[in-house]
Amino acid sequence: MWLAPGSSKTWSSTRPDAVPASTSSSEPGWTPFAQRRPELGGRLRVFEIDQPGTRAWKRRRLTELGYPVPDWLRLVPVDFEAGQSWLDRLVAAGFDPGRRAVVASTGVSMYLAKGTTAATLRQIAGLAPGSTLAMTFLLPVELVDEADRRGLETSTRGARNSGTPIVSFYSPEEMLTMAREAGFAHVRHVPGTALADRYFTGRPDGLRPSSGEDFLVATT
Ligand SMILES: C[S@@+](CC[C@H](N)C(=O)[O-])C[C@H]1O[C@@H](n2cnc3c(N)ncnc32)[C@H](O)[C@@H]1O
Repeated sequence: MWLAPGSSKTWSSTRPDAVPASTSSSEPGWTPFAQRRPELGGRLRVFEIDQPGTRAWKRRRLTELGYPVPDWLRLVPVDFEAGQSWLDRLVAAGFDPGRRAVVASTGVSMYLAKGTTAATLRQIAGLAPGSTLAMTFLLPVELVDEADRRGLETSTRGARNSGTPIVSFYSPEEMLTMAREAGFAHVRHVPGTALADRYFTGRPDGLRPSSGEDFLVATT
């Protein structure tokens, strides 16, 4: 999903084995990408940002499960809301801001204040030319397919009750404007429904993700 730098067209159509040797990637969250694709270690460096507590938990669980953290994977503790510079932290962990990077941020912007995401976008837009960001955002309920509205409301309530409230929703136009104002050279909206059509059409079990979470794809 997040591997190839360059234009968004390249990003969406390139296979993982096309990753150039110079690429770095920064991916928030606990996605076990590095554990699923160990063969990429010779060509990629992956920096994963997450909140300090979650970072420590993932490191411990990986070790307990027999997946030692390889040198090409850097787990970087940052709380985006704590006023810390995530970029300084990345650089301290070995990230080279002079080389183009792919930044994947899935399932995170909805937990951050809009001002925090705007500041983060400005910093990513300042990365080396040719860098690409793929970031998901939640649509306001009125833009979600009728059939999926109840599910969105249920998960919003569930997140609030478990202490991790969803605080930010964006229309595609608002997100594109934010990315342009942050300084990206090219911005594109990729609806979640388009990805569902591409990757889930014709499945025998009928599985299909709900609508409501779309992508911003932006290049520097
Ligand atoms: C729904 S998970 C998404 C995980 C992964 N990116 C994925 O797509 O599966 C949300 C992630 O955002 C992280 N997160 C939420 N608020 C954050 C903050 N203020 N700073 C850093 N990470 C945060 C959570 O710790 C969690 O790992």
